[in-house]
Amino acid sequence: MRHARAYGIAALATVAMAAVAYAQTTETTVTPLPDNAPVEAAPLDAAPADLSATTWGDAKAGATKAAACAACHGVDGNPSDPQYPRLAGMPERYIAEQLALFKANQRTSGMAAVMIPFATMLSPQDMRDVGAYFAQQNPGAGIADDTVIAGGPYDGMKFYQVGEQLYRGGDFERGIPACMACHGPTGAGNPGPAYPNVGGQNSGYAARRLEEFRSGTGPLADNPQFQIMAKVAAELTDQEIQSLASYLQGLHARTDVVVASAATPASAPVAPAGDEAVTTDTAEGEAAEGDAAATPATDAPTEAGQTDAEQADAESVEP
Ligand code: HEC
Ligand code: HEC
Repeated sequence: MRHARAYGIAALATVAMAAVAYAQTTETTVTPLPDNAPVEAAPLDAAPADLSATTWGDAKAGATKAAACAACHGVDGNPSDPQYPRLAGMPERYIAEQLALFKANQRTSGMAAVMIPFATMLSPQDMRDVGAYFAQQNPGAGIADDTVIAGGPYDGMKFYQVGEQLYRGGDFERGIPACMACHGPTGAGNPGPAYPNVGGQNSGYAARRLEEFRSGTGPLADNPQFQIMAKVAAELTDQEIQSLASYLQGLHARTDVVVASAATPASAPVAPAGDEAVTTDTAEGEAAEGDAAATPATDAPTEAGQTDAEQADAESVEP
């Protein structure tokens, strides 16, 4: 009995660690998403189209079908026009689910009317194929706003730091969880349940989505995924939403740190945190290195307010 229980706990711990490691490896060189994730953790049952009859997307087939998306989302899912959301690096399942929602006329908010005809063309399997294609592409990122805030509750902070603090630590008093608990330290999302990549997302789009979630109403109010975010966003102020969106726009994986963590000896139990960077529009930047190795990424609350992962090179879209 005692042994069985110990094994059970050990098994749980292993699963938890695997989850942490997975959430942190966003570079395809470390964890190629489509190759490593053919096993579905949960059924795609929130989506209206019959995605249950589909199989894991074929990225090659998806590349051909994605030609129809390039005009707005870019050939590789990195749009040149910031009014369109970035799809590069989005989990395959998230893309397929959203396409199903568009096609069923359930996702109708914002600029959905522009998008719906293109989702309508796709079969359920096409949705997963294009999802697999975009999941394989490297997401770029934009620039976060580092203007210093004058007045109000966040007086003296750089604009994006308000979002950074919430992203990494949440706000316990108001029941706001750390965003990175679900979206990961680099924003890459989670391929198991359909949690989107938010790293590098265009800020205008991200802010609008957060406002929709905060309202808790609208066409998708019955959707369980929407409700997850509705609970998260309920207490956010306008300023916090704008700052979060700015932070997300600059958030991206740091190639140098990811490479370093890939080389971490096998004995290291948890991959280092801080494998992220926010590109800001400062000319010099602070260029401080995140002292990543000491802090597991799951320690979100204690990381609140740390700004040690800033990226120096303001011009670079990817480090
Ligand atoms: C004419 C421009 C246009 C084309 C072409 C287009 N889209 Fe979109 N797409 C949009 C817009 C605009 C949105 C944002 C809708 C909104 O405001 O919520 C969007 C949103 C999406 C989303 C949701 C993203 C998210 O983060 O939730 C997915 C997935 C998507 N498109 C996939 C595709 C695919 C796949 C194709 C090609 C088959 C495609 N789109 C073609 C304009 C376009
Ligand atoms: C408990 C898990 C969880 C937490 C915590 C969480 N999210 Fe989300 N997030 C989700 C899920 C699930 C979705 C997809 C919602 C849907 O499909 O309608 C999502 C969607 C989003 C989107 C829309 C992305 C897109 O491409 O349209 C943004 C932006 C976002 N989250 C930002 C945040 C921010 C900022 C925080 C912290 C304040 C946060 N999330 C915390 C689970 C979470």
